[in-house]
Amino acid sequence: MAVNGSYTSPIADAAYATVGTVNNGFVSKVLGGIDGWTIALTLFLSLVAYDQSQFVVIASTRDMARKVLNSPEYVKPCVVDVAHKLLRPTNWVFLDGREHVDYRKGLNGLFTRQALELYLPGQEEVYSKYFQKFLDISQKEYGGKPTPFMPHFRELMCAVSCRTFVGHYISDEAVKKIADDYYLITAALELVNFPIILPFTKTWYGKKAADMVLDEFSKCAAKSKVRMAAGGSVGCILDGWVKTMIESEKYRQKIAQGVKAEEAGKPSQLLRPFTDFEISQTIFTFLFASQDATSSASTWLFQLMADRPDVLDKVREENLRVRNGDRNAAFTMDMLESMTYTRAVVKEILRYRPPVLMIPYLVKKDFPITETYTVPKGAMVIPTTYPALHDPEAYPNPDSFDPERWITGTAENQTKNWLVFGTGPHYCLGQTYATLNLMAMVGKASVLLDWEHHVTELSEKIKVFATIFPQDDCLLTFSKRP
Ligand code: HEM
Repeated sequence: MAVNGSYTSPIADAAYATVGTVNNGFVSKVLGGIDGWTIALTLFLSLVAYDQSQFVVIASTRDMARKVLNSPEYVKPCVVDVAHKLLRPTNWVFLDGREHVDYRKGLNGLFTRQALELYLPGQEEVYSKYFQKFLDISQKEYGGKPTPFMPHFRELMCAVSCRTFVGHYISDEAVKKIADDYYLITAALELVNFPIILPFTKTWYGKKAADMVLDEFSKCAAKSKVRMAAGGSVGCILDGWVKTMIESEKYRQKIAQGVKAEEAGKPSQLLRPFTDFEISQTIFTFLFASQDATSSASTWLFQLMADRPDVLDKVREENLRVRNGDRNAAFTMDMLESMTYTRAVVKEILRYRPPVLMIPYLVKKDFPITETYTVPKGAMVIPTTYPALHDPEAYPNPDSFDPERWITGTAENQTKNWLVFGTGPHYCLGQTYATLNLMAMVGKASVLLDWEHHVTELSEKIKVFATIFPQDDCLLTFSKRP
């Protein structure tokens, strides 16, 4: 059905309103009178006649948000029409119920510890390249003057995602083009867009960019199939997936030839063969789900670290220690997992500035959300994450950035409040990868680079472009660490 509300990812990200200063989106109308970040903690059911026919209900308490996210019999993720056009209607993320669960199971193997470890060298390579680029921008291009780094973090995140997802099957030029054009995709998914794609509109440019990405990823899938069939090693998510498909096919052939099951070498997951385009669509959803959220997290991470040198010093100390004093040592999974403090910093950034504020869902059938109120079928119901993540009972002094709360405090026990990655059947598939990736990035940066933040009056103000960013785009200067 046509739902005229949007969020950038079909799966995550809210693109609704500038929280804090500008109040002109529809959620600001919903949240009318709520001052900046102090979003009311009590449940309120706000009914907004939207698009004349669409009701919007905001589920803002922790328990109400959890209830919505854990009620797949009543709700499913809600996307704008244009998302179907960009990602294609056959995309797995639009599946519901059993079909969704089954498809998702087939992807779990791509995000296990063992699998994630294989992607680390590719990530390290991208960080090395981009850190050098950051130095060149600051020192050569801008002569040591501060410059907005948010666009560069977006490009870095796009590059690291592409390397993790499709390895070296994609060229550096294509990565750069995808990073640049990704703005068009995000813009195309803004709240109210014309439902038909007319030439030269935002959605038209967005569709063109999405088609280009799908085309690139399809070519990558074809190349990976050839390389993996020839016995190549796994270097990216795509390879891991293709390898399991090949092993599944071999297993099926052996069974068909009458080989006993226990001797046929059953792979950990039995997958059907996927076409290049199906693979491309799925890989695109990973990019779609990660790009805005991880760009936001990395921007705040670099900003906060510069503003809190005491915290950065501890990250640095930990990262040198786990590298046995050799700052050029490559990161490993054991190393990342042993970094208690760096993990605390990343978790605190995600709590303090949650990249996904709202997770829009569509009500499939009348949903008795409380004893006295039933959300009507066809309404949009939007669990919010911010109130749970800034609940003073779960996180004392919630508006202060305090990584220690994850080490000596009780933050780690507040599992019900930890809604950064959602919960229920659609919880974030990439959450472990995203956390480790942010830890790897800031850890490596801490030992190789110094950076200063030029604080402006807009630095702590929030702008929303799919997710949240500092309004001044994070003015930084990078220099090489002596
Ligand atoms: C800091 C970074 C990230 C944040 C804050 C984030 C947050 C979220 C949230 C809130 C959801 C919706 C959960 C729900 O409906 O209950 C989600 C879904 C999803 N995320 Fe993430 N995400 C991040 C990074 C990533 C990355 C890097 C990937 C891919 C590798 C990814 C892949 C997905 C997918 C595939 C879904 C949809 C799962 C489904 O519908 O079954 N995310 N994410």
